[in-house]
Amino acid sequence: MDDGTLRPTSLAEYVGQQRLKEKLAVYLEAARTRREALDHVLLYGPPGLGKTTLAHIIAAELGVGLRVTSGPAIEKPGDLAAILTNALEEGDVLFIDEIHRLGRVAEEHLYPAMEDYKIDIVLGQGPAARTIRLELPRFTLVGATTRPGLITGPLRSRFGIIEHLEYYRDEELAEGVERDARLLGLGIDVEAALEIGRRARGTMRIAKRLLRRVRDFAEVAGEQRVGLARTRTALDRLGIDDQGLDRRDRAILRAVVERFAGGPVGLDTLATAVGEDRGTLEEVHEPYLIQRGLLQRTSRGRVATEATYRHLGLPVAAPAGSLFDEGEAP
Ligand code: ADE
Repeated sequence: MDDGTLRPTSLAEYVGQQRLKEKLAVYLEAARTRREALDHVLLYGPPGLGKTTLAHIIAAELGVGLRVTSGPAIEKPGDLAAILTNALEEGDVLFIDEIHRLGRVAEEHLYPAMEDYKIDIVLGQGPAARTIRLELPRFTLVGATTRPGLITGPLRSRFGIIEHLEYYRDEELAEGVERDARLLGLGIDVEAALEIGRRARGTMRIAKRLLRRVRDFAEVAGEQRVGLARTRTALDRLGIDDQGLDRRDRAILRAVVERFAGGPVGLDTLATAVGEDRGTLEEVHEPYLIQRGLLQRTSRGRVATEATYRHLGLPVAAPAGSLFDEGEAP
């Protein structure tokens, strides 16, 4: 909570994700009581829901050190060996963000490290090369991913705890906003916090960011306290609508409706049409639009729904090839 992110450092301070918190509290206490390293933990779910924050909390609750790295940073086995042999002490937590992007060979070296706390290192090259096996401290790997489908079976099976993070309810986001406001020394009305929660698309990171932008508008307007009216005008100015969609989200929906007659349209085609990278479309924008019923994913591509038309203020059409005739030949 000292790095400007206002990140909580205990489970008690962490808002929402109730079922996950309850289970984790048990696992943490059991590990502490047995004086053992916690089992390896895989956290998955959409970005911005607090996976990194949870890794910090797990280390803090266990009273151990935390090392942070990411899948793309570990390309070669040597990268992994360097972290595991230099940076870790007994019981420490190693957090690997975007663990689905780990290099394949590095991943294979991770298996014995997770299972037996050993790593094989190859010294030298060619015929003179030899392998030495190093003992590692017992550690806990916390892996995070937005793409659980890309985690290989062998890697997944080595995690003892696999948990999904859910989108937050509006009230939970409001609670997170009130907490941050308190830590920032900022007064905020209950309705204002709830308005931010409603427009934060289920995502704690977005709620926290919106609070900071609303604070800017309030301060520049000379207001000591953030109220509902200022919050609404600030969020409108930011282009965040009443369902939390930003301009990019609406551009995606509008493209499906106006350029592809409501779909179905393939992901790559849609990405090109809106000038967005496929991964961002699929991992950042789509999950929320689908969750809100504003977009459907079918075997033939993305399809607009009645709610899409309503949200864009367009007359509801029966879009060609939509859910209405899904799976039926004309
Ligand atoms: N920061 C990120 N996720 C959080 C949460 N669930 N509660 C409070 N602060 C957070």
